[in-house]
Amino acid sequence: MSGAPGQIQTQAETPLTDIVARAAEIAREAGATLKEYFAAGVQTEYKGDVDLVTVADRTVEKLIRGRLGEAFPGHGIYGEEGTRERLEGEYRWYVDPLDGTTNFAHGFPQFCVSMGLEHRPHGTEADEDGVLVGAVIYDPMREELYTAEREGGAWLNGRRIKVSSTKLLAESLIATGFPSRKRHASPNIHFYHEFTLRSHGVRRAGSAALDLAYVAAGRIEAFWEFNLNPWDTAAGVLLVTEAGGKVTGFTGEPFKLDSREILASNGLIHQELVGMFETLFAGRDLEPIPTPHEFAEQRAARLSAEPTNS
Ligand code: IPD
Ligand code: CA
Ligand code: CA
Repeated sequence: MSGAPGQIQTQAETPLTDIVARAAEIAREAGATLKEYFAAGVQTEYKGDVDLVTVADRTVEKLIRGRLGEAFPGHGIYGEEGTRERLEGEYRWYVDPLDGTTNFAHGFPQFCVSMGLEHRPHGTEADEDGVLVGAVIYDPMREELYTAEREGGAWLNGRRIKVSSTKLLAESLIATGFPSRKRHASPNIHFYHEFTLRSHGVRRAGSAALDLAYVAAGRIEAFWEFNLNPWDTAAGVLLVTEAGGKVTGFTGEPFKLDSREILASNGLIHQELVGMFETLFAGRDLEPIPTPHEFAEQRAARLSAEPTNS
């Protein structure tokens, strides 16, 4: 895979730029459908004890599957709601028709459509990653369309985006997420606690794909999460790297689509974050949690130490 930005050719000699543009149209149509369901209100079903799914997730995956199949009949599709088509193909779309279902089901307007394209040259083993070459994330509530193509940069509504230039975690706004199922099996609440104390704050907005898009757009400095799937991450990972950022696992190892753990940042605070993960996993430097009595005593001490206004 080489060539000037926007000139990468796909198997059918369709320029990557045209593929991403067509995928963006599909994402806009999908997003418009989500918005209609959102306005009308939807019935919620349970996939697990707290893992929600709605008719919107399924309908929009079907719509995307149909549109991608018409536009790129040779491309494979791997979708959250069960689509597994042409996975032997040289190109594969990872599709999350509705990232942020819990928000959507509660009427909280933070969700998106996410579509990432992987190139899997002939000879790529089943357990081996190809190369991410195209990305589309669409937020229908804000009408924000994020696109990226390999070696072609990252874009928001047609304007080039770049990661932020903040150099310190202490001056950063960062984000994370929590799984909708098996929450008890996730240690993330401890990391949430520690990173909150060491940064300007940790947002937990409920859409991993948008969190990654926000890193790419420089709105936040970093995002991490345990236990994600390729449909959550594929598009966002390319957006972040094309915007000049960095994506790895928690120890700084290269990110793979089946990694599940992800650490994405503006690059400048990456090493500091990796160091923090090492420290926290080792159980060092943890902030003790005071008892209510200790907290009240500490507050009283702080208040008495503050100068009065008179
Ligand atoms: C979820 C969202 C959420 C993340 C969860 C994901 P879904 O995806 O991305 O932000 O914290 O881990 O499962 O289920 O809404 O597509
Ligand atoms: Ca998702
Ligand atoms: Ca989803």
